[in-house]
Amino acid sequence: MGLLIVLLLTCAALPWASSDPSDEACLTHLSQTLKDPLKNLQNWTKSTFANPCSGFTSYLPGATCNNGRIYKLSLTNLSLQGSISPFLSNCTNLQSLDLSSNSISGTIPQDLQYLVNLAVLNLSSNRLEGEIPAQLTLCAYLNVIDLHDNLLTGQIPQELGLLARLSAFDVSYNKLSGPIPASLGNRSGALPRFNATSFEGNKDLYGYPLPPMKTKGLSVLAIVGIGLGSGLASLVLSFTGVCIWLKITEEKMAAEEGKVSQYMPDY
Ligand SMILES: *[C@@H]1O[C@H](CO)[C@@H](O)[C@H](O)[C@H]1NC(C)=O
Ligand SMILES: *[C@@H]1O[C@H](CO)[C@@H](O)[C@H](O)[C@H]1NC(C)=O
Ligand SMILES: *[C@@H]1O[C@H](CO)[C@@H](O)[C@H](O)[C@H]1NC(C)=O
Ligand SMILES: *[C@@H]1O[C@H](CO)[C@@H](O)[C@H](O)[C@H]1NC(C)=O
Ligand SMILES: *[C@@H]1O[C@H](CO)[C@@H](O)[C@H](O)[C@H]1NC(C)=O
Ligand SMILES: *[C@@H]1O[C@H](CO)[C@@H](O)[C@H](O)[C@H]1NC(C)=O
Repeated sequence: MGLLIVLLLTCAALPWASSDPSDEACLTHLSQTLKDPLKNLQNWTKSTFANPCSGFTSYLPGATCNNGRIYKLSLTNLSLQGSISPFLSNCTNLQSLDLSSNSISGTIPQDLQYLVNLAVLNLSSNRLEGEIPAQLTLCAYLNVIDLHDNLLTGQIPQELGLLARLSAFDVSYNKLSGPIPASLGNRSGALPRFNATSFEGNKDLYGYPLPPMKTKGLSVLAIVGIGLGSGLASLVLSFTGVCIWLKITEEKMAAEEGKVSQYMPDY
């Protein structure tokens, strides 16, 4: 009996027994939403998803294992398309997610909030759209958020400033708008602040460390004013022109009529 228990325990501790159903769901779903036109994801097959790790060894290129669980995913510059599955959140031991420099579209799933161990999130240089999920704030260990060079819209959630460990933050070259939260642009105390490099390349983003809001209302008014003014001026000009032309024609006609009546017999 004792021997059996020892045997069972030994079995449980063996690397091949350490497959994880959450990691399997995570990888299976991710491989379904990502598109890999150049077949760069070698060995990304169903059988590997069931058993991606053997202790600290990974059978899945791009994945790094720690004690049988995936703790790092690095799939950069592989011409990947498609979108990020919300089931990525099932890789609950993930500490680093780097999908940078691909052509991934769709939104950043809110479900990434369940990756409570996440320290590095690098989704830069893709085609991600929609808003930056404020829920990322729940990933309390986040050190790095790099979302530069995407198509993200909306405002920067000011909750992100609550991430006390954040030391790198880059949302440059997106389509973000609105004010830069002081919690990021002008953080208090010893927290690292992020300079203009982190925010540039977003047409409608404003406030420190970028310049203040452009006085857009005034310039629009000015343009409308100039348009109306010149429109009115040309209207007046053409009206005068037509009047003069009419006057001349009228005079000519009258003269002509006079001439004609000269030769007309009077009845
Ligand atoms: C591919 O995965 C299988 C397990 O599914 C593993 O035995 C094999 O070594 C892996 N190949 C590479 C190149 O990692
Ligand atoms: C990205 O991949 C392409 C083609 O595989 C390669 O030529 C290029 O050097 C890579 N870029 C980086 C930054 O690794
Ligand atoms: C896996 O992720 C999905 C999407 O976030 C979630 O609905 C589901 O509950 C997760 N499953 C497990 C076992 O955590
Ligand atoms: C994110 O990935 C890009 C491209 O791989 C790299 O150049 C950049 O330095 C990374 N960001 C951070 C903050 O490490
Ligand atoms: C930055 O914050 C401090 C107080 O924390 C404030 O006095 C200062 O005016 C702020 N600077 C800008 C440019 O908003
Ligand atoms: C902005 O900060 C980064 C480090 O976060 C630094 O490398 C860069 O030189 C700074 N740029 C400016 C214009 O201060």
